[in-house]
Amino acid sequence: MYSKEEILEKLSSIKYPGFGKSIVDFKFVKEAISDNEGIKITIDIPSSSQDIQKELEIGIHDLFEGENLKLNINTPKIEKETPKQPEKKNIAPTIKNFVMVSSGKGGVGKSTTSLNLAIALASNGKKVGLLDADIYGPNIPRMMALEGVKPQIDSNKKIIPLEAYGIKMVSMGSLIKSGQALIWRGAMVMKVITQLLRDINWGELDILVIDMPPGTGDAQLTLAQSVPVTLGICVTTPQVVSLDDTSRSLDMFKKLNINVAGIVENMSGFLCPDNGKTYDIFGRGTTDEIAQMYKTEVLAHIPIEIDTRIGGDEGKPIMYFNPSCASSKEYIKIANSVISKLEVIEKDGGVDNASIQPS
Ligand SMILES: Nc1ncnc2c1ncn2[C@@H]1O[C@H](COP(=O)(O)OP(=O)(O)O)[C@@H](O)[C@H]1O
Ligand SMILES: [Mg+2]
Repeated sequence: MYSKEEILEKLSSIKYPGFGKSIVDFKFVKEAISDNEGIKITIDIPSSSQDIQKELEIGIHDLFEGENLKLNINTPKIEKETPKQPEKKNIAPTIKNFVMVSSGKGGVGKSTTSLNLAIALASNGKKVGLLDADIYGPNIPRMMALEGVKPQIDSNKKIIPLEAYGIKMVSMGSLIKSGQALIWRGAMVMKVITQLLRDINWGELDILVIDMPPGTGDAQLTLAQSVPVTLGICVTTPQVVSLDDTSRSLDMFKKLNINVAGIVENMSGFLCPDNGKTYDIFGRGTTDEIAQMYKTEVLAHIPIEIDTRIGGDEGKPIMYFNPSCASSKEYIKIANSVISKLEVIEKDGGVDNASIQPS
C-alpha cells in the first residue's frame, strides 16, 4: 500500500505531453488512493486528444506495474463553459488567443512558418486569422496571392480582413504607405499598430497568428505589449549565428512574460526531390540544445523543400496544396502542439514562465 504522498511522488515523474511540467505540478491529479483492493488514480486533463490520453495511460501503468491499478482519465466535455479570458487588456475582444511568431533575424522563414501554421490550425477546425505585422518586410500578401488587393471597409469604418485558404488575413504593409515604416521610431510604430488592430473587424477568432517583425528591438517589444499574447513561437535555422538571435527572442518572450510554445527549426536539412534523401546544408538538430537551455522544446524540424519556396513565390502555400508532404506534416505537428498548449493555458492560466529561464 502507498500513502497519497507516495503515489503523487511517483506521478510527479509523468510530464504532461508537450510540457516540462508534470501532471502533479499542473494539479491534474484529482484522486490518489491506495487500499487493500489496489490503487485508484483519477486525473482531469484539459485536452480531448486521444494521443495525450494514451501517452499518460501507458506512462502511469508502467509506474505501477504489477499493481492492481484503476486509472480514470477525465477529458473535457464537449459542452464547455465559456473559458475565462485573461485579465489583460484586450484591444480585440473577439479574438480568443494570440500566437506570436518571432525570429531574431529576417530570412529564416518566419512568414512561411506563420502562414502554413495558420492554414494547419484552420484545417484542424479552428477559426484563424493571420496578421502580417512585419511592417518592414510584409510578404504574406504575396505568399497568399493577395498582393495589391486592398481590404474593404465595413459600415462601422472597420477593415474587413481578406480571406484565402481558409484563413483571414490583414497585412499592416498594405495599410500603410510603402517605405513609411522604415523611418518610424518605436513609439510611432506602437501607435499605428494598436490603432490598426482596433480598426480591424476580425469577427470571432480562435487564434490570431501574428507574423512579427524580425529582431527584438523597440517595434517588437511594443507590439508584443499591445496585445495579450497567449503563446510565442521562435523560428530559427540551424546555423549558430541564427541560434544566437533565437536566445534573444526567447529572452524577449521571457521579459514580457509570454508563454513559449517552442522553437521551430526551419531549413533543417535539404530534402532532395530526386532521391528523397535529406542533406544537412545548414546543419540539423542544433536547436535542441538551446531548447533545453530554455526548458522548452523543438516543435518541428522543417526541411528545405523546393515546393515550399515555389509555394511562397507563387502564392500557393504548401500546407494547402500538398498537405501530406514532409514539410506539411511538420506544420501539422506545430499546430497540434499549439492547440494542446492553448487548452492547458485556458485551464491552468499559463505554463510556468519561470521555466523558460536559461538554466
Ligand atoms: N522550409 C523551407 N524550404 C524552402 N524554402 C523556404 C523554407 N522556409 C522559407 N523558405 C523560403 O525562404 C525565403 C525566406 O522565407 P520567409 O518566410 O520570407 O522568411 P522571413 O519571414 O523570416 O524573412 C522565402 O523565399 C521562402 O519561400
Ligand atoms: Mg517575413
